[in-house]
Amino acid sequence: MGEVAITAGRMAGRAALVFGAGQGIGRGICLAMASEGATVVATDVHAENAERTAEQVRQRGAEAIGLACDVANETSVRQAVNRTLEFSDRLDFTAVTALPDMYYGPLEGCSAEHFERDWRVGVLGVLHVLKASSGPLQKSKGSVLLFGSAHGVEGSADRISYVAVKEAVRGMARAAAREWGKYGVRVNAICPFANSPVMADYERDHPDWFDDSLSQVPLHRLGDCEKDVGRAAVYLASDDGSFVTGHTLMVDGGLTMR
Ligand SMILES: NC(=O)c1ccc[n+]([C@@H]2O[C@H](COP(=O)([O-])OP(=O)(O)OC[C@H]3O[C@@H](n4cnc5c(N)ncnc54)[C@H](O)[C@@H]3O)[C@@H](O)[C@H]2O)c1
Repeated sequence: MGEVAITAGRMAGRAALVFGAGQGIGRGICLAMASEGATVVATDVHAENAERTAEQVRQRGAEAIGLACDVANETSVRQAVNRTLEFSDRLDFTAVTALPDMYYGPLEGCSAEHFERDWRVGVLGVLHVLKASSGPLQKSKGSVLLFGSAHGVEGSADRISYVAVKEAVRGMARAAAREWGKYGVRVNAICPFANSPVMADYERDHPDWFDDSLSQVPLHRLGDCEKDVGRAAVYLASDDGSFVTGHTLMVDGGLTMR
């Protein structure tokens, strides 16, 4: 049974579209947006997971739909934006959290095929989303949130493709922020450290690496996808963050400091 509809909040009257919302941080952003009154469109390459997130949002009392969308497919991305406009008549916030299975291992083993496959989702997917969202976001003076990684900022061994993708994305956030400032559209990035399913997989498969990372976090815990990363997304998307653009916010308990 749904709760009473949320009509107040920092995102009230606004529509949020999230790519990669079937689990983890994308799902956390949808829930945090809903708690602040946004209408939510949750999309994922796994349609059933997108719908599950949408149902969880509706249980919070916010309006939501779940859609299948592959960010690597430009037509699929444009359809998601169009469906959002049909559903809510506006688009105020777009986030891209989609993360494919990527190549991890020594760089000598990273084939051109691996690299191109990772790039297609991680980088081209972001380009598709930026292009498709541009018009509606200019109309609403909305914002975009992209995702980098401490692995990219620091450079990490055995992650040549991931580092390339994540730093390309942070660069795209800065480039789009400069280009769209004149329209009042803001573009930011977050580098998170949070308890998504993919992080749980790392903890299981690489406990030494995971423990080592955690031991370097000054706040001594893993972040929460909704309460830590989702709320940071709300800050950046709402009027609270209205003078912040082209920025990378480290939401990682202090793991990476600059
Ligand atoms: N969790 C962390 O601590 C952490 C750390 C650094 C960076 N990040 C970044 O944050 C973002 C979210 O990470 P997460 O941990 O929630 O990941 P996750 O793997 O838990 O979730 C990613 C979601 O993306 C979806 N997806 C995969 N390919 C897709 C495609 N082609 N089109 C649409 N959706 C697709 C998956 O189905 C999944 O639901 C990623 O960009 C990741 O690089 C996360």
